Amino acid sequence: EKTIYIGPFVHSKSLAELEICTKGAIGVDEKGVIAFVERDDVEGVSKKEGWESAKVVEVKDNGFFFPGFIDTHIHASQYPNAGIFGKSTLLDWLNTYTFPLESSLSALPRATTVYTRAVSRTLSHGTTTAAYYATVHVPATNLLADICLAKGQRALIGRVCMNSTLSPDYYRDASVAAAIAASRECVEYCRRIDPSGELVAPIITPRFAPSCTEECLHALGALQKETGAYAQTHISENAPEIALVNELFPTHKGYADVYDKAGLLNPKMILAHAVHLTAKEKELVAARDAKISHCPASNTALTSGCAPVRDLLDRGITVGLGTDVSGGFSPSILEMARQAIWVSRHVAMHEGDHAKLSVEEVLYLATRGGAKVVGLEEKVGAFEVGMEWDAQMVALESVPEGGERHEDGFVEGVDVFGWEAWEDRVAKWLFGGDDRCTVAVWVRGRLVHSTGRYRG
Ligand code: GUN
Ligand code: FE
Repeated sequence: EKTIYIGPFVHSKSLAELEICTKGAIGVDEKGVIAFVERDDVEGVSKKEGWESAKVVEVKDNGFFFPGFIDTHIHASQYPNAGIFGKSTLLDWLNTYTFPLESSLSALPRATTVYTRAVSRTLSHGTTTAAYYATVHVPATNLLADICLAKGQRALIGRVCMNSTLSPDYYRDASVAAAIAASRECVEYCRRIDPSGELVAPIITPRFAPSCTEECLHALGALQKETGAYAQTHISENAPEIALVNELFPTHKGYADVYDKAGLLNPKMILAHAVHLTAKEKELVAARDAKISHCPASNTALTSGCAPVRDLLDRGITVGLGTDVSGGFSPSILEMARQAIWVSRHVAMHEGDHAKLSVEEVLYLATRGGAKVVGLEEKVGAFEVGMEWDAQMVALESVPEGGERHEDGFVEGVDVFGWEAWEDRVAKWLFGGDDRCTVAVWVRGRLVHSTGRYRG
């Protein structure tokens, strides 16, 4: 059904600049593609030829349309552990909390529950595209692909590879051949259930260098080349991990070189964290055009460090945001945008104000930046003719004159007083908002989530 979305809309024009259109109308065709973006003659859109009988969806509640969020790094399998990390750091966190949970998802009923909730929950926070890690298990990984397809979320589905004996006996690939065969099965499955790859696509997923033998990394690099799929892994997250990589791969010139020698450092590789890359490694990542997923909540929770996002951006590296559930405690990219601002403040306290990220910049990373990370920048992340309607309707709460609140005394979301500038409203949403403000979410024009406040 053709639909015209009427009301204010906000999206990124560039890293530093948001467009705030306070009166807009966006026409979306039957295929979910944006056919027009009207900024002037909003009243006239219903008389546009071919759009006379289009459905109209209007923003209410001082809200606005905003592009769907892109989570460039999330472990769907770790969703039950969100918020559980104590005082652990990466390597003991993996052994204490993560591997036992992931290994339990070999049971399909359990995987069904976990993945259904993870996908529903990320959708409810406005995540329209996610790069997922599942587990080593083929049937459960394929189930995650089924669930994303059924719920209508765009997703990259990663079957985790980990064959080295550093991984626990109870949760490991038996051999390189077994790891590759299982990965290949998941690539083929995704391509069978969504041949267009429009919604669900496979992603080759070596867990991280310490989990994989050199032979396995090389085989996965070859598999990526053969299949043309995306790849994702972790890099330079914390100091003991980096020391371990240097010990395990003594003939390589560092962490990034381990992936590079395996053919995995390329434009279709998503590297999570990149907290402690050396200047030479950053140069290599930039030269290979590999992408980086910034996971600020996780890096703080596991005390891994503060990723130097400004420096990465200044070097021309493409950066998006990742929740890294459950290293990160929240499934919300809005929360990650906020956390990215905090982390940049902490970097700025040592290195100067240039490191600070602005509201505009983190919202860019959450949308257009993320879209570039997953190779969808032509399709999603903004409202432009020819792009697809991956969007969220944001509602804010108005405070009536005299400062009275709702009759029932309950105010959801963020109060708008009416005298703040539109830029201020966006900042209020970023710093004070949560999923209560996300009243409806669409992917390719399909309504994939809505709350009671949505009257579509
Ligand atoms: N490094 C290897 N595996 C993981 C993981 O599951 N989460 C995070 N944050 N880092 C990792
Ligand atoms: Fe991770």
